Amino acid sequence: MATASMGLIGVGTMGSALALNMAENGHDVALYNLDASTIDTLIASAGELAPKLKKFTSVEDLVAAMPQPRAIMLMVPAGKPVEASIDALLPHLAEGDTIIDGGNSDFRETQARTAKVESAGFRYLGIGVSGGEEGARHGPSMMVGGTPSAWEPVKPIYEAISAKFEGDPCVAHLGPDGAGHFVKTVHNGIEYADMQLIAEVYGLLRDGEERTPAQIAPLFHRWNEGALQSYLVEITGHVLDAVDKDTGKAMVDVIVDQAGQKGTGRWTVIEAIRMGQSASIIEAAVGARVLSSERQTRQIAGPILAPTAGEQHGTFNEDELESALLVGRVLAYAQGFRILKAASDEFGWDLDYARIAEIWRAGCIIRSSLLDDIATAFRGDLPDDRLILSDHFAPLLKEHIAPLRRVVAQATMMGLPVPALASAVSWFDEIRQPRGTADLIQGMRDYFGAHSFERLDKSGSFHGPWND
Ligand code: 6PG
Repeated sequence: MATASMGLIGVGTMGSALALNMAENGHDVALYNLDASTIDTLIASAGELAPKLKKFTSVEDLVAAMPQPRAIMLMVPAGKPVEASIDALLPHLAEGDTIIDGGNSDFRETQARTAKVESAGFRYLGIGVSGGEEGARHGPSMMVGGTPSAWEPVKPIYEAISAKFEGDPCVAHLGPDGAGHFVKTVHNGIEYADMQLIAEVYGLLRDGEERTPAQIAPLFHRWNEGALQSYLVEITGHVLDAVDKDTGKAMVDVIVDQAGQKGTGRWTVIEAIRMGQSASIIEAAVGARVLSSERQTRQIAGPILAPTAGEQHGTFNEDELESALLVGRVLAYAQGFRILKAASDEFGWDLDYARIAEIWRAGCIIRSSLLDDIATAFRGDLPDDRLILSDHFAPLLKEHIAPLRRVVAQATMMGLPVPALASAVSWFDEIRQPRGTADLIQGMRDYFGAHSFERLDKSGSFHGPWND
């Protein structure tokens, strides 16, 4: 099958970086952007890669200039801009051409768009691209969804531009239509959880021990050499080290404590709940971003609900904080993979969890040393298909759960918020509890609504003696 020629619509930060990456890997890239001047800027700064980048001022001209079969990647904001780009392209395409959405699109929109573009006679891929600007430029991790015949003509291009883990390309075709974007959404849900867990540990050291960012940074540098080795722990050290040029203060100390979000974390939680999956750590992370945005309320509530004397100060054991982060991270991954399984079952995607872990080992934001162990665990026999029950992770959790427990207990007694860490410990305690407390829930449901319950000692549906 002939390799496709490449076009790219949307030459912003990510689009520019991907175009340079493709050019560096020997591909000519046809470029279109609403504001054509950004293409001029890109080409002017592209040095020896400039001859491989071609500017077009209309979608029609771009398509006409590209040899067939064409692959045109959209790097525009999710939602209406994707739809508008598809509508602009459709009248000009020929059989064998492929539209590729490389944004953080809602997987349901990708499913609908795949159907729409395929019924018009063309091909469609939804690719989740992770790794930020640096990843896009030098090797992102990419999660591909779509009809296999659409993937084959572009596979060599994406394998070439992807991140590599010990030579293995961090890109894979994972399933039909929305599968790639769904996996990317869950990647981002895990990203939210991991970032929140890290931020909580930072908060304990900042507010509990009154350490400065410069005093906290070395801890993250050290942790990045051990079991927590990961991109997010690495950059946390760098972010904490950074100094604001204007004020000479630590950079984080002048950043407003309100976190933005574009939707993927929230979508992960919504889909998890819809499919009957518990994503409590990811949910805590989304909730924490929401409360972070309620800055005005927090300013007002601060003095009214002020801590009592003795609250909020104390010291934490650094090794226990490391263990707490490790358990939180493992359980966040476990929740994420469980959501993937639920979606795979519901949509018949037959997702390969080990392969997903493998393509997350390099290039993406949640890359960490744990992912190789996760891939190995999924390739082996897992009791009840559960990552946390694997030969590798069950002993790890048992070893590190007590420190997590102590960190959460200490933080709670000190009045310091640890929503994600606390969710992690509760989730662990719930999932390993052979007899839970839903017997009482069932009793109450039957009491007020005659919903009935099952019994342990005989089969059937029963009511309690509530009205006797
Ligand atoms: C990545 C990132 C990237 C971006 C997300 C998160 O994998 O490269 O996830 O896609 O950071 O859009 O954005 P928000 O935090 O704004 O939701």
